[in-house]
Amino acid sequence: MMPQPQWRTLQQHAGPLQRRHLRELFAADPARGSRLQAEAAGLYLDFSKQRVNDETLRLLLALADARGLAERIAAMFRGDRINTTEDRAVLHIALRAPAGMHIAVDGKDVVADVHAVLDRMAAFADRVRSGKWTGYSGQPICNVVSIGIGGSDLGPVMAYEALQHYSQREMTFHFVSNVDGSDFVEATRNLDPAETLFIICSKTFTTQETLTNARAARAWCLRALGDTGTDGSEVVARHFVAVSTNAAEVVKFGIDAENMFGFWDWVGGRYSMDSAIGLSTMLAIGPEHFRALLAGFHAMDMHFRNAPLDRNLPALMGLLAVWNANFLGAATVAVLPYAHYLKRFPAYLQQLAMESNGKHVTREGSPVDYATGPVYWGEPGTNGQHSFYQLIHQGTQLVPCDFIGFCQPLNPLDDQHDLLMANLFAQSEALAFGKSADAVKAEVMPAALVPHRTFEGNRPSNTLLAERLTPYTLGALVALYEHSVFVQGVIWDIDSFDQWGVELGKALARRTAAEIASEGDPELAHDSSTNTLIARYRRLRQSIA
Ligand code: F6P
Repeated sequence: MMPQPQWRTLQQHAGPLQRRHLRELFAADPARGSRLQAEAAGLYLDFSKQRVNDETLRLLLALADARGLAERIAAMFRGDRINTTEDRAVLHIALRAPAGMHIAVDGKDVVADVHAVLDRMAAFADRVRSGKWTGYSGQPICNVVSIGIGGSDLGPVMAYEALQHYSQREMTFHFVSNVDGSDFVEATRNLDPAETLFIICSKTFTTQETLTNARAARAWCLRALGDTGTDGSEVVARHFVAVSTNAAEVVKFGIDAENMFGFWDWVGGRYSMDSAIGLSTMLAIGPEHFRALLAGFHAMDMHFRNAPLDRNLPALMGLLAVWNANFLGAATVAVLPYAHYLKRFPAYLQQLAMESNGKHVTREGSPVDYATGPVYWGEPGTNGQHSFYQLIHQGTQLVPCDFIGFCQPLNPLDDQHDLLMANLFAQSEALAFGKSADAVKAEVMPAALVPHRTFEGNRPSNTLLAERLTPYTLGALVALYEHSVFVQGVIWDIDSFDQWGVELGKALARRTAAEIASEGDPELAHDSSTNTLIARYRRLRQSIA
């Protein structure tokens, strides 16, 4: 239940405001476009094209107050166990805290541990990048294959793509996540095992997909490099490292604890790209750029902790997301980076936002009677414009958009960057202001076409603008979304840091895999649809085998 009177006041406020067009709101306040903005850690947020006025913001901030947002932020930064269903602290902010800062879990400072791992990662990255770390047959490492899934994959892939401009181009980087064998086979197709390093990333080191792919990688390596003694452990020692919180399972798999980089249970998988899970990122861009990435995260963390909520970027973005979801009825958010390097950013955000806030009960376990986490999706601009933007402009769903753009290109190519950014500005303008029927009629055309060519407008968006896509900016951008997701979870009174919803499918898959593998004719005790599908699969699978 959402008991707060502030919620009801917002509902009452939303009714009349829904009827006011953004054209009107802009006309009533000529300074709106330069006024409704906030800036931090190199990111400028223009939220003037959201369907809000000053009163909306005041009411949203009152709701945040009633929900105790300031205290919840303080609790997270203090290391309180705010992930209540897993009884864990939530301290990804400690991963980017500078050396010397003090953050304690159960009375023990964790920042020193974080820096000890960062230093080991940096020493390892330097050895690999300089060619001093060699494979079993003495060749330097040219290819890195990171194996992981979910938070142990999406962050590393996204960051590698986003920062490719800064990466060591003599090395190639590949990411394997899917248990579909095609993922592994295609990723390793052209690689020489003698020059390939595998990073097995798994917080728990029990994830079926990751361990299956890791075993495939070990077999692939040993097949090519030969069995070197009793168990091939020397090959594994030169070609495999692990990132995990579970040393016992890493060792059981055959990776030397010396070659393991650790992190901690107070880092959620989807909040871990700046932990040792980012080892592939560090190998690609080098330790110095990785530290700049952490500095960007930290700058946004400090802003989130210290800035007043009405000037606080993550707080404002989170509250605007709540406004769109709960008071304007938007079920999705489109994330539209006008930077090709950010092409995996929407996929990364999907896990961050949807695994965090796709919840149906409050922290106390009562069913919610309001919408929680919306669906996040998106594609880089301008590609989306020629595909799904039609629906955003003229469809019947309200799709709030986050546009993300940079003022300086990383690859200046004639005027292409200006064209790219012109498209970003044009899209947010068209969405907000549309094109009235009168304006369409004025352009002489068959009257029958007027409704088809009319743009209602009044479609809300944020625009995030930064100077340049750098490691620092990427860190700030990711931290902005992390904290915005947290703010939304606080308003919805849910645990944004657990993910019990993924468990049922995992358990059923284990049972089904055993049934599929069984020799005889197993008695299937699922529903009639699942029974039929499994039986049919077994029959056709066997006839091919
Ligand atoms: O199944 C969901 C999940 O638990 C995610 O939360 C996590 O990021 C992913 O699986 C991978 O888990 P691990 O890093 O333990 O392999």
